[in-house]
Amino acid sequence: MDSDSDTYLHIRGGRRLSGAITIGGAKNAALPCLAATLLTDQPSRLRRVPAISDVRRFCEILRALGADVDFDPERGEVEVRPPPGGCAETPPDQLVASLRASFLIMGPLLARSGRAACGAPGGDTIGERPLDVHLAGFRAFGAQVETDGGRTTAYAPAGLRSARIVLDYPSVLGTENLLLAAVLARGRTEIVNAAMEPEIVCLAEMLIRMGAQITGAGQHTITVDGVERLGGCDHELIADRIEIGTLAIAAAITGGDVRLRRIEPRHFDALSAKLEQIGVKLDCDADELRVRGAEPLQAANVQALPYPGFATDLQAPITALLTQAHGTSVVHERVFEDRMQHLQQLEKFGANLTSDDDKSKVHGPAKLTGAVVCGTDIRAAAALVVAALAADGESRVYGVDHLDRAYVALDQNLNHLGADIQRIH
Ligand code: UD1
Repeated sequence: MDSDSDTYLHIRGGRRLSGAITIGGAKNAALPCLAATLLTDQPSRLRRVPAISDVRRFCEILRALGADVDFDPERGEVEVRPPPGGCAETPPDQLVASLRASFLIMGPLLARSGRAACGAPGGDTIGERPLDVHLAGFRAFGAQVETDGGRTTAYAPAGLRSARIVLDYPSVLGTENLLLAAVLARGRTEIVNAAMEPEIVCLAEMLIRMGAQITGAGQHTITVDGVERLGGCDHELIADRIEIGTLAIAAAITGGDVRLRRIEPRHFDALSAKLEQIGVKLDCDADELRVRGAEPLQAANVQALPYPGFATDLQAPITALLTQAHGTSVVHERVFEDRMQHLQQLEKFGANLTSDDDKSKVHGPAKLTGAVVCGTDIRAAAALVVAALAADGESRVYGVDHLDRAYVALDQNLNHLGADIQRIH
């Protein structure tokens, strides 16, 4: 999605961040858990739900399918009451086109009613993003799947049968969609080469609370024994490990001293290891991370990989940090094919970069000065905010609508830590 908004963040750089922030629930856990509410006709309640535009859009999708949805952003709670007689079959295309995760309605609708349809899902433009993993899985469950001009329709009038599904790639949304279908399929399903992200474990825990029988979530193979029906549940989301990473990197680049609260350290081991290698000081206890910037920072190589590797969603932000490290860092994006769009924008601040396809070389430290830049996807925009915090002088960062898709008031949180950011409409 290109940003068409005139809103920008006016950032005066050079302020050292300090203080404490309580981390919110994970966007990438909220969306599959909202989809899971369609698996039952009973109400479900989600807690620690972030007040971000992707969540609001997903709530709209649930409403379009006939559910009653109450979202209380202050309390971070969503209650979903699905329609007793079953959901409408398909949501409006323009809603679906606003985020990638909208395709997660397919698994639950297909499993419950034997029929589901969805227009082409949207989301960040960071590569081709095919759906073959999802579609091959639905077919393995015995569904007939058709695609026409981006629209997918799937039928399984006699219900889904269990299957042993070996994924071509451990796709996060693909694993979630198949898990959402498997819980109501007849018999035992195995999902092999499954994604292992903590958000998958969070979804599986919700499904187990609803009555599903699942083992192995968070490992390479997930085993599901299908049940006839599921009930509602009350479920709290995990902390957003990408928000943690973004704020930790922001603290580090300003030489700050920041405490991040209500976190789960096991969820971002790869980030912690990389920040320590770069020279950032980390102190972690059960649910708090203290991040202290240090001088000098050292260059490091980063490979963005599926979990538990370094998160692709933090590849752009850590590149911004590496512009301040001594030496040459190599950053290799190995998940998405076109996720280097932040590089040109970082160069506007004075970053010294060379790039080749899915790799960039970052030569540091470079003196950053204020610039007018535009983020073209969520994490690219976050990287530009990080760079602007370290730049001398004033910057304008456009692409704020991308940030609002995934971060709860990133600008306000950074201001709470001592940044100087104004949102200009
Ligand atoms: C999810 C996250 C996103 C994160 C990404 C990787 C959500 C809502 N979004 O996106 O923030 O950056 O995981 O951690 O959770 N692929 C295929 N065929 C498919 C599906 C994917 O080839 O059917 C490829 C993609 O093109 C990409 C790679 O697999 O190259 C990873 O994609 P995937 O894991 O599916 O990412 P998402 O689930 O879309």
